[in-house]
Amino acid sequence: MKIFLDTADRDLIKKWISTGIIDGVTTNPSLLSTQGDNPKQVLLDICKMVPGDVSIEVVEKEPESVYKQAKEIAAISKNVVVKIPFAHEYLPVIAKLVKENVKINVTLIFSVLQALLVSKLGVTYISPFVGRWDDIDIDGMKLVQDLMKMKKNYGFKSEILAASIRNVMHWHYATLIGTNVVTLPPKLLEQIMNHPLTTQGIEKFDNDWKSLGKENLLD
Ligand code: E4P
Repeated sequence: MKIFLDTADRDLIKKWISTGIIDGVTTNPSLLSTQGDNPKQVLLDICKMVPGDVSIEVVEKEPESVYKQAKEIAAISKNVVVKIPFAHEYLPVIAKLVKENVKINVTLIFSVLQALLVSKLGVTYISPFVGRWDDIDIDGMKLVQDLMKMKKNYGFKSEILAASIRNVMHWHYATLIGTNVVTLPPKLLEQIMNHPLTTQGIEKFDNDWKSLGKENLLD
């Protein structure tokens, strides 16, 4: 499983990149809106800091402008993936960009058939939004499971990127399903790092070792 960070916060990205477990970053206009008024600089910094793919979302609306902006975004760094929301009128744009070797992450995916169509176009990532389905009392993880089945049924190459991950159990189930990629808010990583049984276990080992009264393990 690839682990992406779902944030535009450079301090948090720096912190988690240093652990070696982060494969990429996903941003969106909402996340960028929390990081000051120079989004271009924020994005350039992120692309430099991250060894893997960085998803950057288009904010234009008209298909021609989306195409133009996607090309501009793709040109800012080699590790950029252009994020485009699913829409009927963007399908030709996405098809053209894929032919031109632009890596695409189709975002705001809420159905198997949306995912099927963009898989046929050969996009790099498909992002089903788990939490936003859960918000309206529908099991978002079921969609991820169905997309993995669809991918297997037809041998599609596009990777399923579980997005809108809001809690540790989302991540847990995405892992059991075999989801290709998960994008995590940094606070979820923080949450699983400290397990009370691990902390207790370390304390016990420390105390038992000290009770032996030895300075070095291998003396
Ligand atoms: C990432 O690609 C998505 O934009 C993000 O995970 C959405 O998460 P949210 O539904 O919590 O805003």
